[in-house]
Amino acid sequence: MIDFKEEIVKLLANKIENLTEEEIRNSIETPPNYEMGDYAFPVFSLAKVYRKNPAIIAAEIAESIESEYFEKVESQSAYINFFVNKEKLSSEVLNEAHNRQGNFGKVNIGEGRNVIVEYSSPNIAKPFHIGHIRTTIIGDAIKRIYDFLGYNTISINHLGDYGTQFGLLIVAIRKWGDIKVIEENPISELLKLYVKINAEMEEDPTLLEDSRKAFTALENGGKEETELWQWIRDVSLKEFNKVYDMLDIHYDSYAGESFYSDKMPAIVERLKSSGALTESEGAQIVDLEKYDLPPSLIIKSDGSTIYITRDLAAAKYRHDTYKPYKNIYVVGSQQILHFKQLKAVLKEMGYDWADEIVHVAFGMVSLEDGTLSTRKGRVVYLEDVLNKAKEKVEEILTAREEDKGIKIENKEELSAQVGIGAVKFQELFNQRIKDYVFDWEKTLSFEGETGPYVQYVHARISSLLEKGNFSLNNKYDPSLLTKEEEINILRLLYKFTDIVIDAHEKYEPYFVTRYTVELAKEFNKYYNSTQILIEDELLKNTRLMLCYAVKTVIKEGLNLIGVEAPEKM
Ligand code: ARG
Repeated sequence: MIDFKEEIVKLLANKIENLTEEEIRNSIETPPNYEMGDYAFPVFSLAKVYRKNPAIIAAEIAESIESEYFEKVESQSAYINFFVNKEKLSSEVLNEAHNRQGNFGKVNIGEGRNVIVEYSSPNIAKPFHIGHIRTTIIGDAIKRIYDFLGYNTISINHLGDYGTQFGLLIVAIRKWGDIKVIEENPISELLKLYVKINAEMEEDPTLLEDSRKAFTALENGGKEETELWQWIRDVSLKEFNKVYDMLDIHYDSYAGESFYSDKMPAIVERLKSSGALTESEGAQIVDLEKYDLPPSLIIKSDGSTIYITRDLAAAKYRHDTYKPYKNIYVVGSQQILHFKQLKAVLKEMGYDWADEIVHVAFGMVSLEDGTLSTRKGRVVYLEDVLNKAKEKVEEILTAREEDKGIKIENKEELSAQVGIGAVKFQELFNQRIKDYVFDWEKTLSFEGETGPYVQYVHARISSLLEKGNFSLNNKYDPSLLTKEEEINILRLLYKFTDIVIDAHEKYEPYFVTRYTVELAKEFNKYYNSTQILIEDELLKNTRLMLCYAVKTVIKEGLNLIGVEAPEKM
């Protein structure tokens, strides 16, 4: 498509000698409403050089510009306002929809670049609870957005499958566990055991001692301990995969913390040889004062490695294996310090690639009473949330069947698409850094700016296209789209690529979510004000081409946030 903004850059670069193209590009703004044009360029910075009143400069430049791409170039006080040629806009957008169909707006800015997106990364033997919803859904959306822009993404689930808690679990299973019972309900049974041993430990300190021994045995490859650990990992992953399947989320790699256990000695060696490691009260630390950060503990006084040691090994492994343009970690804001330290330690080790690491943080979800703790065993399971959402849609559909005396063929599938879509959509509706309180009612509300609303508009367009016998082979004439509602839709469609690019630069999928709502609303306005299936064939087919473009973009927008777009609802 024509890049109108670039056209402005070229036009202005010709007129303004003392600004570079880059400076001009960065100053171009989007006015608050279309009455002030599609683009605006402020001239304040030129006042000094030209020794003239900015309003006069703006007026002079505006007057001297002539371009087929803009129907009007006007000054308004210190701004030059550009009004896009609507016929050009219309033919650009309709031709893009017609010629590229499902690839509408797709650009390949990431070609040849590997991007790692690490997300979800739950701890095995612990519940997959509502606290994991954010990393899982935000991470998947980021991966999809990078894919769309042509990057080669690698999705990694950095499972928490290593650490002293496995010593605790091994002891608890030996003492109180019943393999059969656990196999039936692995996560909740393992959680019970974990809660129990944490409670009993307070009375009986030998349990802690036994657990330490069990963990050491596990680290040294003890047969029985390793088998038990492997079993815990397998049953946990099986449970997690149920949730991933429901969410339609899949990974390229499940290399979790344990994967790096044999890669840590090399890291420790490098830390030593680079002189970064110092001893403090028997432990090995890296001083990070020059980064304004607290020191990073790498090896505890008992010789055991910790979370960050494994992350150092993981970062190095990922760098060597994938040579990534970016290594993105979608992890809660509680770990901001951890990732700052991780980067700083890598720099201290002399790894100049440390800046490929990006921590995409997000706010916390809490329950109404402010808790979200596995240790106390109080949890909302993500699987339950998804199932409830699905059931609710099923109820609505059943009521509709009874109401209208019809049968909805794919009720089960549709319920999942709409219910789970609603949960994802809501999760991706706000800036990620905001904390929020989990609320059943809100999660299951389908009114207003929700996923089901957007899906519904998409399905409505599908049936409209069918009724109007839409075909890509039909003749259409872009110059016929002159209604204000039509132009507004065209403007939005034209913006789609920029929205996705912005979302990827800032790691904010909610730009895309909000955009789909805006587009759906704008379409509804059009639909309510304009007859589309009219006698005049050429006008009808042109309007249907616009509808088709909207449908295509809504579908892709939803796809980018992992939400399906059913044809019928
Ligand atoms: N398993 C950790 C948790 O649940 C998250 C892991 C984040 N990723 C990482 N590479 N440290 O808190």
